[in-house]
Amino acid sequence: MKVLVIGGGAREHALCRSLSLDPAVSALYCAPGNAGIADVATLRPVDALDGAAVATLATELAADLVVVGPEAPLVAGVADAVRAAGIPVFGPSAEAAQLEGSKAFAKDVMAAAGVPTARSYVCTTPEEVDEALDAFGAPYVVKDDGLAAGKGVVVTDDLAAARAHALACDRVVIEEYLDGPEVSLFAITDGVTVVPLQPAQDFKRALDGDAGPNTGGMGAYSPLPWADPKLVDEVMELVLQPTVDELRRRGTPFSGLLYAGLAITGRGTRVIEFNARFGDPETQVVLARLRTPLAGVLLNAANGTLDTLPPLVWRDDAAVTVVIASHNYPETPRTGDPIEGLLEVAAEDEPDAYVLHAGTRREGNTVVSAGGRVLSVTATGSDLAQARAKAYKAVARIRLDGSQHRTDIAAKAAEGR
Ligand code: AMP
Ligand code: GLY
Repeated sequence: MKVLVIGGGAREHALCRSLSLDPAVSALYCAPGNAGIADVATLRPVDALDGAAVATLATELAADLVVVGPEAPLVAGVADAVRAAGIPVFGPSAEAAQLEGSKAFAKDVMAAAGVPTARSYVCTTPEEVDEALDAFGAPYVVKDDGLAAGKGVVVTDDLAAARAHALACDRVVIEEYLDGPEVSLFAITDGVTVVPLQPAQDFKRALDGDAGPNTGGMGAYSPLPWADPKLVDEVMELVLQPTVDELRRRGTPFSGLLYAGLAITGRGTRVIEFNARFGDPETQVVLARLRTPLAGVLLNAANGTLDTLPPLVWRDDAAVTVVIASHNYPETPRTGDPIEGLLEVAAEDEPDAYVLHAGTRREGNTVVSAGGRVLSVTATGSDLAQARAKAYKAVARIRLDGSQHRTDIAAKAAEGR
């Protein structure tokens, strides 16, 4: 099977790494990719937002499967263009991707499907904003309606800051604050059948102790030893299957990866957000634990034959990933700094710990930073404490001027807290 992956972040590196280890994959391409993905896949330049260009590339390569990684191409209709060219594609249509592309649309689908989520108002005027902030009180949760790479959400006790963020957005969702630990649960679906993956936890804030601004995600781990063993079944029944059924009922079936971002509150599990693609960095830890070869799973979803897939098989291992970000991330990250230590990790720590590249590019013989999140250092171990120790040992070998990472990824969970 020839597979083309669209995107160029650590999630795509994790996808390509798993696909490259799958004996069913005879050729693997990534467009546009990054300096690390080049080790496991053949890179092709492409404008990932240009559906016609992606479809042409897939046709040229005689791809049997196209996997669209990030949300922006999905919302722009890249999966539709590939599907129209007659090539199986893993990823939802533009219409179904509105589940991520518009928070207001997601709220509407959840209301219709009876999916538990925070109460919310959609506001377009300063008067509506003030009413909504007043109705819910602090802490205030203010979300830009459109795509914002994980940075459109402000959660704050400061009314003036909440108001300022709301007024800076054209359309904003203001909602009830949800208290409790967060879980990311991914499901693979063909629009009818839903296959849940293992839950993971992401660390959204920039700094240790969940301080600082929201980011795209600074680290993740799986499994969640503290979670109720019935969590996955419960979320399947209350969230994932009803959402997939509702989108099919509307004539816009969702096929691809449905990501439920959940809060485990005292009053039950609530959806914080949906995404229409694999989460980054959670994918790095979820795929590290998946034993079933990946290509067949994604192809069955693309072809609408997930009901024929045998149950997924998981490793007993735990996995931890730690994101190394540029100086000044998430504000205005500095790029172009050389990254050292990658070969040391390859020589000393692999295969237990390895570096997945996010924003990197090659300049001659050096790899330099090219984005806010630069690397995602991933490790597996017999338990979270061991995986965590291996991940941080590898992180310590990486040198990137001005870089930052959190030192507390999976710390509480590894200590049984
Ligand atoms: P989102 O982009 O909707 O996932 O929001 C980003 C982050 O903001 C989430 O991972 C939460 O940490 C936080 N957040 C979003 N919505 C809420 C809410 N209703 N209550 C508390 N925290 C929230
Ligand atoms: N890690 C959060 C996301 O992928 O949206």
